[in-house]
Amino acid sequence: MKRRKCSCKYPTRLKILVLFLMGWLLALMKLLNVEKLLFPHKGIYLVEHFLSTSSYVRNRYSYLRNSIQYKINCSSIYEQEPNEIGKSLEVRKKEIIDLEDEDIIAITSDCQVYRTLRGYYLKPVSPEEENFPLAYSLVVHKEAVMVERLIHTIYSHQNVYCIHYDQKSSDNFKSAMDNLAKCFPNIFIASKLETVEYAHISRLQADFNCLSDLMISSVPWKYVINLCGQDFPLRSNFQLVSELRKLNGANMLETTKPSSSKKERFIYHHELHKVPYEYMQIPVKTNISKDPPPPNIEVFVGSAYFVLSRALIQFTFENSLVKDFFEWSKDTYSPDEHFWATVVRIPGIPGEISRSAQDITDLQSKTRLVKWNYLEDHLYPPCTGTHLRSVCIYGAAELRWLLNSGHWFANKFDSKVDPVLIKCLAEKLAEQQKDWVDLSSEDSFIHRSSAEVSQ
Ligand SMILES: *[C@@H]1O[C@H](CO)[C@@H](O)[C@H](O)[C@H]1NC(C)=O
Ligand SMILES: *[C@@H]1O[C@H](CO)[C@@H](O)[C@H](O)[C@H]1NC(C)=O
Repeated sequence: MKRRKCSCKYPTRLKILVLFLMGWLLALMKLLNVEKLLFPHKGIYLVEHFLSTSSYVRNRYSYLRNSIQYKINCSSIYEQEPNEIGKSLEVRKKEIIDLEDEDIIAITSDCQVYRTLRGYYLKPVSPEEENFPLAYSLVVHKEAVMVERLIHTIYSHQNVYCIHYDQKSSDNFKSAMDNLAKCFPNIFIASKLETVEYAHISRLQADFNCLSDLMISSVPWKYVINLCGQDFPLRSNFQLVSELRKLNGANMLETTKPSSSKKERFIYHHELHKVPYEYMQIPVKTNISKDPPPPNIEVFVGSAYFVLSRALIQFTFENSLVKDFFEWSKDTYSPDEHFWATVVRIPGIPGEISRSAQDITDLQSKTRLVKWNYLEDHLYPPCTGTHLRSVCIYGAAELRWLLNSGHWFANKFDSKVDPVLIKCLAEKLAEQQKDWVDLSSEDSFIHRSSAEVSQ
């Protein structure tokens, strides 16, 4: 009996010990991320890792280098071929690993190598574009790789680019931006940097800092466009220039009469407060009424994003009424969303939109396409990516719709949501740029030869 009892007891202890050991091992594997090493194909998609010259990416993911990455045909994505869209959906199921800010620092640390690697020398430019330089004000704060992709896509050597990064941004992000700017004579960091708070005057001030630097730049730009890090163009530089020429000095932005709820944003004095549970400050409404706006100002609302003529910016910096309006706007909610919409309605301003003229809504203005989830199915097809605060982050199935929407830029894009869309959009735009420049040089060749014939 005694012996038997003993033989029973022993295996139970052993079982517990084995179970304990296995649990401990599993926990250790999880901790050390061994799964990824054991099953490399299972869940990881590296975005543009081949671009990286950094040992950082190479060392961390060297075991993945020769693994199959999806070969995506962007023409097929554009044509919405189910097979190709299916591939993009498979990619999205994986853990998407994009280049980190450290990688961008490494990639841009040797400018010669970087510019060659990214083919900046190969970008075709037409004489029409050379004679119509554009300026950009980029207000950014994170994800250096997305800013790099944006700049790479909109870059043309006759244009000028101002980058404003947030004082709160990480040191790596700031270094990546500094490096990027150092590689080009026509890209610079704003001379004055703000700590940008959501919906606060500091957002508008950041654009102002860039605009004032751009006004003293030697580049004789015709129009200025402001963008953020989650934007992407829908037009090549060639197409954009030909559309801007047609504006004939007019401006392009949203400007509508404010609803009563929007009016609250500037009827009451607002104060910056910490938001509970979030690490940010936003302007909060008080019950103190503000004085009315400066005389001869009628407030219109719109978007923070614009395409404005040089003449309008010049006027803005020189006109005392506009200065007073800027000062008055400092304690309002999201002044960037009513400042430009109001300024462009001031009688006598270059490219004025008359106050009696109809509203220009966000869909009529071509500056920025934003898909709001509550308007999907009514005004546009549903979002095929995901949503962030009611705004669509686009997916690959929307490529064609985006390019045919008639807008010049769109928001929002995120490589972690759909890297295929961003790759294909950039590819399509580069293709269109080349086609148009080729066509226009043939055109001028035809013009030239017919002129020669007629002589
Ligand atoms: C991509 O697909 C199109 C058809 O949609 C085809 O004509 C083209 O050759 C393909 N390109 C490549 C590189 O496979
Ligand atoms: C608003 O005003 C009332 C008095 O009129 C005051 O009791 C209240 O605390 C004020 N609220 C805020 C948020 O300031």
